[in-house]
Amino acid sequence: MTQLKLGVNIDHVATLREARYRGRDRGEPDPIEAALICEAAGAHGITAHLREDRRHIIDRDVRQLRDAIKTRLNLEMANSAEMVQIALELKPDIVCMVPERREELTTEGGLDAAGQWLALADSRMRLNDRGIEVSLFITPDPVQVEAAAKIGAQFIELHTGAFADHYNRKKDRADEIEKLVRCSLLAHSLGVCVNAGHGLNYQNLNGLLSVPHMVELNIGHSIVSRAITVGLGVAVKEMLLLMERFAEPAPMPSVQQ
Ligand code: PXP
Repeated sequence: MTQLKLGVNIDHVATLREARYRGRDRGEPDPIEAALICEAAGAHGITAHLREDRRHIIDRDVRQLRDAIKTRLNLEMANSAEMVQIALELKPDIVCMVPERREELTTEGGLDAAGQWLALADSRMRLNDRGIEVSLFITPDPVQVEAAAKIGAQFIELHTGAFADHYNRKKDRADEIEKLVRCSLLAHSLGVCVNAGHGLNYQNLNGLLSVPHMVELNIGHSIVSRAITVGLGVAVKEMLLLMERFAEPAPMPSVQQ
């Protein structure tokens, strides 16, 4: 049995840092330190999305990640000239092409691989020539899977957002799982490897495990959220310990006349 791999998306560690330290040379929490903790805990890869607006991960982060991590670096990015150039210089292990709109909170839809196949095929070839694998983030739609195969992508990442959104409605959940199963089987038959991600969490993960041929899941928000929940108690205790060293100054002797 092959092990399903976990790629941890560390964008939200950088989101928290940028909320306080935007524009500074460093700040906390540090996404590189977070990535190393994820690796030490057994994660098989680290995912970071360098967005056009640099709202969380910034250029310095991806360079430092490239140097620091020992597992695979998955760079999520839009298929723009700027990003392709950065990827060619950075040489991540894999690039996951995602659609990007400035106003979105997170990556909301999948790529239109069918509509943009020429541009995607061109970038795919340039990245592959540099030894970088290419994945396309697509909704579970057979047309998009076929387009990904035609583009020559090594991987697709199936967008599990609709599955996650419908998880608590039994019939809709079953429909979404069926779409994912169908697309995974199709991709496999076309020689394209299958990753999945978006909106996966500690509750809905079990429902996804019936999808065959999955290689890796990319999970970000729920792991970073869970880290706050399970780690907050330790953080408070550490601060209290430091504060124990505080000593009240001796009271001033009262001056009596
Ligand atoms: N995969 C892709 C392509 C994404 O864009 C994202 C969100 O950045 C994820 C996985 C992780 O999604 P989530 O943060 O909901 O786990």
